[in-house]
Amino acid sequence: MKKTKGIILAGGSGSRLYPLTSVYSKQLLAVYDKPMIYYPLSTLMLAGIRDILIISTPEMLKWYRTLFKDGSHLGLNISYAEQNEPKGIAQAIIIGEKFIGKDNVMLILGDNIFYGDFTEIRDAKEKNLHSTIFAYYVKDPERYGIVAFNTNDKPKRLIEKPKKYISSYAVVGLYIYDSESPKIARSLKPSARGELEITDLNNAYLEKGRLEVIKLGRGFAWLDTGTPESLLDASNFIGTIESRQSLKVGCIEEVSLRMGFLKRSEYDSLVKNYPDSDYKKYLINIAKDIKNRENS
Ligand code: DAU
Repeated sequence: MKKTKGIILAGGSGSRLYPLTSVYSKQLLAVYDKPMIYYPLSTLMLAGIRDILIISTPEMLKWYRTLFKDGSHLGLNISYAEQNEPKGIAQAIIIGEKFIGKDNVMLILGDNIFYGDFTEIRDAKEKNLHSTIFAYYVKDPERYGIVAFNTNDKPKRLIEKPKKYISSYAVVGLYIYDSESPKIARSLKPSARGELEITDLNNAYLEKGRLEVIKLGRGFAWLDTGTPESLLDASNFIGTIESRQSLKVGCIEEVSLRMGFLKRSEYDSLVKNYPDSDYKKYLINIAKDIKNRENS
């Protein structure tokens, strides 16, 4: 089985959220009790990925470096790369070419939040032959990359933000590609808005008969954070789940422990140095809880 690395694309100008984004990158804004990027990072981790490249603007990379360092405290290997201008999501694959090397890659957008059972995503990563993308039923298909299916449920075509209705299945911001992807991305032409479109990369795989599309079921939540309303909705959603269950969503330290990326002793010494906060209390309690369960 091929190894899969992860890329988080956390650049862009976040203009739709101005003035919230006038100083900080959108993906550093709060979603309930954590920076937004914790959620996509935890998604990659839950898929079993430990080698991660974070791509952002030259100005913002220093904040991501401050936040995650080299990732070793989380049992990860995190590196960083610049995207000088937001020239398209598919450009992330070109920027990440060396990092990807001969491996597969899972690309996630730094503003996409997933909640649910990650078994399907983990399995897809394991089974990926060439490229795998995920589709989610939405009420406003004109806002996303959309995939239409033929009668045997195979992908027929993909259109970025279609003006005319073709399907209600949006392509979510989580994509798995093989090591051919940088070469294919380099052959793409910029779209009318001057970007290397991820939909064009997916269409290139589709034309070769090398695109797998998995529909995410109704038990799965895919949240958008593109507008002030959807950002608030995402915070409320996470807040509701967390207070109902007293379990956190997107808690990267907890994920490291549960995934076995950190030994219990490494986790304890990490958490010991955290500032006194509800977050620290949670991390201490959850580790006790996991231990009690193991012993019972
Ligand atoms: O969220 C899923 C959708 O994401 C897909 O359905 C679409 O096919 C895909 O094009 C994209 O649509 P958006 O309109 O949401 O893309 P946006 O330009 O807002 O970029 C998404 C995120 O990626 C955003 O947080 C900024 C970041 N980004 C974007 C571009 C174009 C970068 O970091 N660099 C870039 O060059």
